[in-house]
Amino acid sequence: MGSLQKFRDSVFLYAMTAVISAAGLARTFQTKAGPVEAVRCVDLTVRAGEIVGLLGPNGAGKTTTLRMLTTLLEPTGGAATIAGHDLATDPAGVRRVSGYVAQSGGVDPQITVREELVTQARMYRLPKAEAVRRTTELARELDLTGLLDRRTAALSGGQRRRLDIAMALTHRPKVLFLDEPTTGLDPGSRAGLWDLVRELRDRHGTAVCLTTHHLDEADALADRLVVVDRGVVAADGTPSALRLAHGGSIDATLQDTFLAITGRGRAPADAAPIAV
Ligand SMILES: Nc1ncnc2c1ncn2[C@@H]1O[C@H](COP(=O)(O)OP(=O)(O)O)[C@@H](O)[C@H]1O
Ligand SMILES: [Mg+2]
Repeated sequence: MGSLQKFRDSVFLYAMTAVISAAGLARTFQTKAGPVEAVRCVDLTVRAGEIVGLLGPNGAGKTTTLRMLTTLLEPTGGAATIAGHDLATDPAGVRRVSGYVAQSGGVDPQITVREELVTQARMYRLPKAEAVRRTTELARELDLTGLLDRRTAALSGGQRRRLDIAMALTHRPKVLFLDEPTTGLDPGSRAGLWDLVRELRDRHGTAVCLTTHHLDEADALADRLVVVDRGVVAADGTPSALRLAHGGSIDATLQDTFLAITGRGRAPADAAPIAV
């Protein structure tokens, strides 16, 4: 086989396995004070079984990007497909294959974990018996079995996050979007959540796109990092590739690397510099 043919085949395979594929994604908000270019140009590719971290300081455009990719917000520029479904022409298809956990969980505090999960399954049109069965299954997978009859108001931060994720997984999405999944969690719950995300990738081949402003989290969890700064992609690569390209050596801290990429020393105001 000629090398051109091989190249074509590999491009084709790459396109086939890209579960998230976005090009030139942009969103400008019209405000009284004038237009705000929240996202100016984001190119993003995520394959099945890959965990990609969108890393960037507060206001970089991470949440806006996720809200566009999950059809909650219409882009003002660019295009994207999720598992082959076009954002612009097939938003229902995109929602069928995507799970989304927003930056702050939105569960009703008065009802129980079980009711919350069954209701979510019913929203995805599962028949009652199937919804109950899926609830048991999700609770087992996310270590919520002992909490099924607890009111959601009584959950700890980590338990609540697991419930948020369980709800986003009800319809077995191919892609899971998590917006700052570990913000506000204690170290133990954070580690538990990292394990959970890895398990989803390894056992179900779920593609995970998560945002974080914790450099250590991005380093520990993501197969690949996409650094977003002021609405554009400033760098894209594995944590070690980014270190080599921007930090100068494989031993560079991700903090140094981040500084080199964004020209700023600290990711967000509240993140302590962490050597990795
Ligand atoms: N609905 C909106 N109207 C006006 N500006 C917005 C709106 N949503 C976000 N922005 C602005 O867009 C920029 C990016 O926000 P966001 O995507 O939330 O960043 P991040 O999640 O990276 O912290 C910020 O400057 C923010 O103030
Ligand atoms: Mg955000």
